Amino acid sequence: MTALTLSTSSAATLRADAVVVGVAKGPKGPVVAPGAEAVDQAFDGKLAAVLETLGASGGEGEATKLPAPSGLKAPVVLAVGLGELPAEDEGFAEEALRRAAGTAARALAGVKKAAFALPVEDAESVAAIGEGAIMGAYSFTSYRGTDGKKETAKADRSAPLAEAAILGGKPRDKAFKAAVERAAAVAGEVNRARDLINIPSNDLFPKSFATEAQTAAKEHGLKVEVLDEKALLKGGFGGIMGVGQGSANPPRLVRVAYTHPKAEKTLALVGKGITYDSGGISLKPAGHNETMKCDMSGAAAVFAAVVAVAKLGLQVNVTGWLALAENMPSGTATRPGDVLKMYSGKTVEVLNTDAEGRLVLADALTRASEENPDAIVDVATLTGAMVLALGERTFGVMANDDAFRAAIHEIAEEVGEQAWPMPLPAELRKTMDSSIADMANMGDRMGGGLVAGLFLKEFVGEGITWAHLDIAGPAFHEKAPYGYTPKGGTGSAVRTLVRLAERTADGDLG
Ligand code: BES
Ligand code: MN
Ligand code: ZN
Repeated sequence: MTALTLSTSSAATLRADAVVVGVAKGPKGPVVAPGAEAVDQAFDGKLAAVLETLGASGGEGEATKLPAPSGLKAPVVLAVGLGELPAEDEGFAEEALRRAAGTAARALAGVKKAAFALPVEDAESVAAIGEGAIMGAYSFTSYRGTDGKKETAKADRSAPLAEAAILGGKPRDKAFKAAVERAAAVAGEVNRARDLINIPSNDLFPKSFATEAQTAAKEHGLKVEVLDEKALLKGGFGGIMGVGQGSANPPRLVRVAYTHPKAEKTLALVGKGITYDSGGISLKPAGHNETMKCDMSGAAAVFAAVVAVAKLGLQVNVTGWLALAENMPSGTATRPGDVLKMYSGKTVEVLNTDAEGRLVLADALTRASEENPDAIVDVATLTGAMVLALGERTFGVMANDDAFRAAIHEIAEEVGEQAWPMPLPAELRKTMDSSIADMANMGDRMGGGLVAGLFLKEFVGEGITWAHLDIAGPAFHEKAPYGYTPKGGTGSAVRTLVRLAERTADGDLG
């Protein structure tokens, strides 16, 4: 992972392979952002003019590489766009810095050390730059052959930027130090979630995911309990078993617990962990199944968030529940029309085996409720309907408590994740009525994301505050990378969950 350091050196004298500067979109052309004064001086004060000649505008996502003039230690200058120049009395938005640092890290793949001379106002800006650099430097290369290239290439373009020195921070200041440590922990865990998502389903299946969780948890002092298929059957987890029974890779329910001796609150996080979603007997057509290894993104986010909380040593208890199953069609698979007896005791008629996420989550929600946490948040790539509603970059937030839904929306915006509150209209519940069972796993197609949310709501324990994040849109990014977002798994919701745990630890919630 990219190492983060804070440096008081000048951008002109720091030994690095490249120096990163910010450029904003001003009313009359590109403007060099604060932090890059020494670099601009080396260009005789003409850096903005040079950039404009090269076609740069300061727009978000731009990256312009220049050979450095004499006077700079680093041989290369990289100018990254920060977007619109903020008003005189306002600084750059944290998300603008995070994205610019991410764009820079992507442009500097293969480079050893870069100095980031971006505008730093406070510890928060340092944190944003650090997070952006680590997340932007992410690459998933475990499945690429080397073809002997590694020995010959000067800069290995598949190797992430090794070190990011952030200038302008105060290395001895407690707040700045903490900001860098937090950035490394959180962004590092976002990258862990991405790895888990990107590993193909032939290598990441319920049992191997559980083993992965056990290994990582040991390293961070977390307590892990795994229910295998025998224990799930015996325990009456009809939802998880019903989804997993068609696969040669049997299901698991993993409980991973972080506890703090002085914690006053307990947060339960529940993740949908369908390691592959073929749709089951209600098979998905070609064109809809190629990226379905991503259907465990909720569980990945939950696990990564619990590890991040442990790394930060937060004064709160956080229990993660990973509901792991592979949804496959076979002679042993659940058929459309079958009725499952859920862990809660409710019976569910499975009208569509492709609506499997809610079935595994329902059991995990009931199980999590038994421990009576102060709040439960589930995270799931649950419905295509949510992608249609909110697009590919925004997750939906539903809840049984208006204040909690608003708090999560606010937290998401604060950490730079796009989210939007969605309702749970009561009248949609009856569309899931079944003619033979307590309910069906499907209702109206219209508002399908909300119907799924209403299904989950029934499995949350009486009186427990609960929110549901449908990350089907942002979990997996298929288009060109931007900012700190790579192709593939994004680690959506990890940063929101960590900040939620911090807020809970601080007693700012409920
Ligand atoms: N895993 C899918 C949802 C999904 C869609 C995730 C696109 C990521 C991208 C989920 O299990 C599913 O198949 N949902 C169905 C539900 C329907 C059958 C009620 C859907 O959304 O079509
Ligand atoms: Mn499905
Ligand atoms: Zn699914």
